[in-house]
Amino acid sequence: MKNISTKITLSILAVIISSFMFMYGCGDDPEMGIGPVKEVKLDPTVNSDLAGKGKQIFDVKCVACHKIDEKLVGPALKDVTKRRKPEWIMNMILNPEQMTKENMIAKNLFAQYMIQMTFQNVTQDEARAVLEYFRSNDK
Ligand code: HEC
Repeated sequence: MKNISTKITLSILAVIISSFMFMYGCGDDPEMGIGPVKEVKLDPTVNSDLAGKGKQIFDVKCVACHKIDEKLVGPALKDVTKRRKPEWIMNMILNPEQMTKENMIAKNLFAQYMIQMTFQNVTQDEARAVLEYFRSNDK
């Protein structure tokens, strides 16, 4: 009797441990995207200085393919902060090529737009500023 219950307990433990390993190992959350950004802490109020910096970067590095209110080469970026997580948006800006290959959401966009978004040589801080600009458009 004792042996059997030990065995059962051990197999339950094994199942629990392997499902944790699955969740944290290979089970990437598609809504977070793939790239250097794992967590973004947002202040509920938009920082207008940062958003202004983001607009400057956007107007130089993104307008060839994006408009805010209309689709151009890529999607219109109005309400992007409502449909995507901040981590996903920053990872898309910083790592678009891997995103369109390995992230389900970006893969679907690529299938629709049929053009590869390219990395625009932005730093993580610059990507954060662009995110703030998007937040200011969407509030
Ligand atoms: C060469 C054209 C091009 C450039 C330059 C470009 N993008 Fe994109 N972007 C795209 C395309 C096309 C997509 C759709 C995914 C794909 O096909 O690669 C996209 C997708 C996105 C998305 C996801 C939109 C959604 O609806 O989820 C975001 C956010 C984005 N781009 C932001 C930016 C930012 C910020 C910049 C400038 C730093 C930028 N892009 C520069 C073409 C471009």
